[in-house]
Amino acid sequence: MFQNIENLPADPILGLNQTFQQDANPEKINLSVGVYQNAQGHTPIFSAVKKAEQQLIDSQLTKTYAPQAGDPSFLANISKLLVGNELVSALGDRLAAVMTPGGCGALRMGAELLVSTGFSGNVWVSDPTWANHFPLLQSAGLSLKTYRYYDSSLNGVNFPNMLEDLEQIPSGDVVLLHGCCHNPTGADITAAQWDQVVEVLKARNLVPFIDVAYQGFGQGLDEDAYGVRLAMSKLPEVLVANSCSKNFGLYRERTGSIMIVSATAEQTKAAQSHVLAAARRCYSMSPYHGGGIVGHLLSDTALTQEWKNELNSVRERMNRLRLGLAEGLNQAQSKINFDFVANSSGMFCYLGIPKQDVLTLRSEFAIYLLESTRINVAGLSEENLPVIVERVSEVISR
Ligand SMILES: Cc1ncc(COP(=O)(O)O)c(C=O)c1O
Repeated sequence: MFQNIENLPADPILGLNQTFQQDANPEKINLSVGVYQNAQGHTPIFSAVKKAEQQLIDSQLTKTYAPQAGDPSFLANISKLLVGNELVSALGDRLAAVMTPGGCGALRMGAELLVSTGFSGNVWVSDPTWANHFPLLQSAGLSLKTYRYYDSSLNGVNFPNMLEDLEQIPSGDVVLLHGCCHNPTGADITAAQWDQVVEVLKARNLVPFIDVAYQGFGQGLDEDAYGVRLAMSKLPEVLVANSCSKNFGLYRERTGSIMIVSATAEQTKAAQSHVLAAARRCYSMSPYHGGGIVGHLLSDTALTQEWKNELNSVRERMNRLRLGLAEGLNQAQSKINFDFVANSSGMFCYLGIPKQDVLTLRSEFAIYLLESTRINVAGLSEENLPVIVERVSEVISR
């Protein structure tokens, strides 16, 4: 059976990571990884998450199946965290959530739901977008097109272009938006721009599918939810893919949810039943452990406060490093103005240097970033920052 199949190439990001691991240079620096790292280069477990997990384990009396939609406490609390208490009450049963294996599972379940409604339009994604959006959605049977978003000549979002493209999208199509901390560019739209985007979606009868993988990593938990809340309060139909991988540090526990808003409680119930049917035929139900931890943590006031404090420190540290990089590079050379790095949001940003310089940084100095110039801000540290500034400046000034 398997004699005729060929080895597939490694995922470009994971492949680069492998090359990094094999690099013998003791001074090597990895700016290409997709996880948060502390000053020691570790991806720690949040202390509040560890405590919630221990309490969950101590109090758990059975491992029997959880409800198929997922842990009720997780679903209620994660909805409140992302959608906000008031809007959750206002939407009532027009809003439903189903626990999924991470944000990827949520994106896939959203795609399965769209396919099961008979949707035959396009899903429009930003150019560029997170690379995995394509296989995740296309392999469910959806077709994807892009709208203009990042403009490398501006080192930021070209909002007039984005809006112009959204205004051309046929009525009834789906628009995938990054809720915050755009991956890979780190360039977000402002709250005022969200207002305009939602106006266009409403006027053109477009359905947003909002990917929220970094709530709390950008401006703050509530600020990062602005687009989701606005869309849910103004539009009849909204899909949201939520991930707890980064903001709860639960990467390997595969924790997330798909949220559905539709025009009526009956339609939401029907849509939810299609998500449950899709889950059943793919993997039956989501893993429980991560959702159990988040549900427990968010129903405990003290643990929630502790987690929020930790999340704030993570965000502040990334902001310090981002600022340090921008200021360091601006002082060390005059060819590129790196202010846009300071203004980027979340874990990633583009460095906006020529591709040849990316390759030189890798071959000469064992500094690894993606060819798109995406760097993980959390790959910077107080220790490696001066080295990175010196070497990047040297290479781009040649
Ligand atoms: C934009 C975006 N969406 C979704 C995800 C999904 O993350 P996970 O499936 O690990 O929760 C990620 C993770 O890197 C991401 O960057």
